[in-house]
Amino acid sequence: MKKINLLVPIMSCLILLSSCQNSNKTISEARSSSVTSVLDIEQKVDSILKLMTLEEKVGQMNQYNGFWDVTGPVPSQGNAAKKYEHLRKGYVGSMLNLRGVKTVRKIQKIAVEETRLGIPLIIGFDVIHGYETLSPIPLAESASWDLEAIKTSAEVAAEEAAAAGINWTFAPMVDISRDARWGRVMEGAGEDPYLGSKIAFARVKGFQGSDLSKHNTLAACAKHFAAYGFAESGREYNTVDIGTSTLNNIVFPPFQATIDAGVRTFMNAFNELNGIPVTGNTYLQRDILKDKWKFDGFVVSDWGSIEEMTAHGHAKDNKHAAEIAANAGSDMDMESYAYVNELAALVREGKVKEAYIDDAARRILRVKFELGLFEDPYKYCDEQREKEVIGQQAFHDACLDMAKKSIVLLKNQNQLLPLKKHGQKIALIGALASDKTSPLGNWRTAAKDNTAVSVLEGMQVYTGNQLTYAKGADVSIGQTKFVDEVKINTTDKSEFPQAIAVAKTADVVVMVLGEVGYQSGEARSRTELGLPGVQQELLEAIYKVNKNIVLVLNNGRPLVLNWHQEHLPAIVEAWQLGTQSGNAIAQVLYGDYNPSGKLPMSFPRALGQVPIYYNHKNTGRPLIPIPNNVFWSHYQDVENTPLYPFGYGLSYTSFEYSELQVKVVSDTEVNVSVTLKNSGKFTGKEVVQLYIKDHYASVTRPVRELKGFELVSLNPNESKKIEFTLSEKELGFYDNQGNFIVEPGDFSIFVGGDSNTSLQSKITL
Ligand code: NOJ
Repeated sequence: MKKINLLVPIMSCLILLSSCQNSNKTISEARSSSVTSVLDIEQKVDSILKLMTLEEKVGQMNQYNGFWDVTGPVPSQGNAAKKYEHLRKGYVGSMLNLRGVKTVRKIQKIAVEETRLGIPLIIGFDVIHGYETLSPIPLAESASWDLEAIKTSAEVAAEEAAAAGINWTFAPMVDISRDARWGRVMEGAGEDPYLGSKIAFARVKGFQGSDLSKHNTLAACAKHFAAYGFAESGREYNTVDIGTSTLNNIVFPPFQATIDAGVRTFMNAFNELNGIPVTGNTYLQRDILKDKWKFDGFVVSDWGSIEEMTAHGHAKDNKHAAEIAANAGSDMDMESYAYVNELAALVREGKVKEAYIDDAARRILRVKFELGLFEDPYKYCDEQREKEVIGQQAFHDACLDMAKKSIVLLKNQNQLLPLKKHGQKIALIGALASDKTSPLGNWRTAAKDNTAVSVLEGMQVYTGNQLTYAKGADVSIGQTKFVDEVKINTTDKSEFPQAIAVAKTADVVVMVLGEVGYQSGEARSRTELGLPGVQQELLEAIYKVNKNIVLVLNNGRPLVLNWHQEHLPAIVEAWQLGTQSGNAIAQVLYGDYNPSGKLPMSFPRALGQVPIYYNHKNTGRPLIPIPNNVFWSHYQDVENTPLYPFGYGLSYTSFEYSELQVKVVSDTEVNVSVTLKNSGKFTGKEVVQLYIKDHYASVTRPVRELKGFELVSLNPNESKKIEFTLSEKELGFYDNQGNFIVEPGDFSIFVGGDSNTSLQSKITL
């Protein structure tokens, strides 16, 4: 086939050519009838598929890592040297980890101008909580329960990343997880499928916008399909073995929500599920995702997850792995080199149907069309826009807003917080207090080290107090990179005395302690959930000389905080809050923002309770207070409940709930109302939460399930009636055949400020 005039949009020409061949029209006739707007995407894709060789179709299914950033182990197949050659042959459909307009344009140019058909690449990157201007880590954002703010945060991330040449993000991660040992909880929305679904929906909408072809939107990716968050003992990449009911009712709903939001891609995962690696799982990818849920975007493998089916003991070798993955509906191979090396041969040998290759290529081309890449492959490659867009003040404002909303006040005895603005001696202690890198958290994309506002800087804005800073002790030793194991300081206490001296004379001590940014995230599992290194010792040493401590936590997962809850007057959960971290924390400490966050994961009393989650089952032997009887489901040494339950979080003001009314409208509709009053002295925001308990069912139901929430702002003494409607969607559940059913019976309805609320009413449906 002849090389096509590249001054006009490449693939429109191809379509024109093929449609002309079909209809005997001339190219100029076809062009004047504005073919691109008349033909719908499916016809365009058909036209292209007809022009493609088997190898070129397989090429669309091949994704290579770029040449700079690395987010996984280097595959064993040794294709690295062939990447440019394969690009030029049209054997590459996508690249990941390319960023910056110059770089992306250079690589895209090869695909568009040097391959036979000029099909543009789709450029993927892990834009998880921002590109250069970072929002809080996703778990922190989830603590806001503020869907609008979360959507805006994804919009900001999309706008910046798209200005840097990226058109596809590997986000949102919608894996439900109940295990704080698993480092990736930082990337999700926590333990609850209802909250997780709402957040998943908001994030997809934020990334994708209403028009994917705009130059400031990204295709989103729901990951990791499925059940990756249930890795045994919280150890990364570990085996998953969960039951059907958990799969249907806990794992699937957030994925379904991304489909409702129109997500264009899915990523499968590293884990096996009940003996079958999910990358090679036909039930998940074909039966559920593509058939039952009618998903018409494409599925990308996780990094090397096709090849890893050999290590799992499911595939004989990389060729066999390619066969299994392609047959199971895995459309694109990220860095296993299995498809590009093996798939065409497998088709010729009759082991993989060509129809599957056509289907996968069609799905990938469809998304490329939707992104507008065929109209203009360089639409994300405008250097001027890149300069103007990235780092805009508006993005910093949005990230600050999101950061403040993500903070959760865990304890505030005797109103120690907010801090007085004048006349105080404040000691600020902890290496994390002056850290300008760690608050960026994991998945930094293009954010540079030392670009976060530190707590020290944030507090220095308030000049009415005398602020003295002392590090106390390092948390980690040396510079940490994404690919490094984090080295924690477990010995050096040489700077304790200086910090103790500063604390001794202070009115209030603010201690910023916790995990460094790379202690959570992929491959960052922990077996201890205390403060790492010598920080606990430092805290207790300071406590001996000054008890007036505000503990500000920086962490990417729930921690065990019993000592802290028992001894310290104030505790602020500040996660890793991104670029504007220090400003957000200072504004909360000084009361310029009244905290309103609520925990998206339960915080355990002891590591041995993990996995711990509010929506557990009742068991046949729940606690019934019979004296002198030991035979109930419990531990001998710790009570069953978490230290801080799901949905928990305080405010500088107080809220009162009253007048819970529940009205049964029909068998499947219930109206609920409650009155909320701000009974304190500050204007504040409360997340009003509604839970149900279905008392008996053909498949047992959890003791409580979140089924509604609303953010309500009230001035002191102001009251508001809040209303909810429960319908089939909230009252039903999935049976073990995957059917959604609603059963009559007794239900309790709970409304309040956390999952432990006692305000309740019982109904029969
Ligand atoms: C592996 C991670 O599991 C996945 O979430 C990520 O998108 C890819 N690496 C690409 O970096």
